[in-house]
Amino acid sequence: MTDLTELQAALLGRIEAAQDIAALEAVRVEALGKSGSISEMLKGLGKMSPDERREQGPKINGLRDAVATAIAEKKAALETAELDRKLAAERVDLSLPPAPERRGRVHPTMQVLDEMIAVFADMGFGLAEGPDIEDDFHNFTALNFPPKHPAREMHDTFWLPENEAGERKLLRTHTSPVQVRTMRTSNEKLPAWIANGQAPPIRVIVPGRVYRSDSDATHTPMFHQLEGLVIDRDIHMGHLKWTLETFTRRFFEADGVVTRFRPHHFPFTEPSCEMDVQCDRSGGSVKIGQGADWLEILGGGMVHPNVLRNCGLDPDEWQGFAFGLGVDRLGMLKYGMPDLRDMFAGDVRWLEHYGFSAFQAPNSSTGLS
Ligand code: PHE
Repeated sequence: MTDLTELQAALLGRIEAAQDIAALEAVRVEALGKSGSISEMLKGLGKMSPDERREQGPKINGLRDAVATAIAEKKAALETAELDRKLAAERVDLSLPPAPERRGRVHPTMQVLDEMIAVFADMGFGLAEGPDIEDDFHNFTALNFPPKHPAREMHDTFWLPENEAGERKLLRTHTSPVQVRTMRTSNEKLPAWIANGQAPPIRVIVPGRVYRSDSDATHTPMFHQLEGLVIDRDIHMGHLKWTLETFTRRFFEADGVVTRFRPHHFPFTEPSCEMDVQCDRSGGSVKIGQGADWLEILGGGMVHPNVLRNCGLDPDEWQGFAFGLGVDRLGMLKYGMPDLRDMFAGDVRWLEHYGFSAFQAPNSSTGLS
């Protein structure tokens, strides 16, 4: 008994006196380690008679618990003291210059998309999206491309291998399939009393990636479009023209931007047009508001009655216009990048030069005069 009391007093004394974690650990190993003094006693219990064990067991276990608790408490105290010492000794020197840090840049396409969305959102357009991998129905058929018509080849489509159902999907060649998806969904969502021959007014823009097998200074196999779709009663070409001219002026932040509408053909609009922006492409860069060159930036027109019908809308009740803007081309024009291919070459030096700070709000660019 005295042995145990003495041993406990001795151990607690040494624990209390320990100056650091290492000294404390030494006491722990000596007492509670594999062949520590207390561990040995615990092993000895097995060799005792039942009576003896009943008497000694609780005492030895009590000793072990007391020592283990004291060690844990001392350890916590030593750690707190160490932290306090560090806090007092180590200080942050706020006058030191910061370590240089590599910053990413926002890609011009994403910057331009944000700017475009901001302008259209201001005019009351909502956002819609669709899949990059499309089917023939949404990309061509519903948009009034006749079967086997050369208009399908016009798009230099990337086709996917045939699936088990014998169907070939494709990488969408334009954002126009989302016109179909939007009209059909908004139609399907209608309550019965409206669905009966009427549809809600639609006013959406659709930003997204599109794909065509094409590559030169103004064409890349993947590029970005922003589709627009407005469906309502009494919509005409004048609305389309106003919307696109107003957009162009606000996007370029300049009233002097000169645009030109040319008649064109798309299977899904009638009449159809293309819009060019006047620019100067001499001297390795693109300047807007001057020069003898024109860069085509969009296709548009009045939604073809067949498309409306394919989407379950009555063309005698509903008209609308649609347009598809080339996002990257607008970026080239606004920020003076001469070659579209550089935009997706992934050269970090190019991005350092033409990229944007992530902390710049859309439309806070310097603008053009
Ligand atoms: N989808 C056409 C293209 O990619 C552009 C367009 C969109 C034309 C909407 C008319 C209406 O060239």
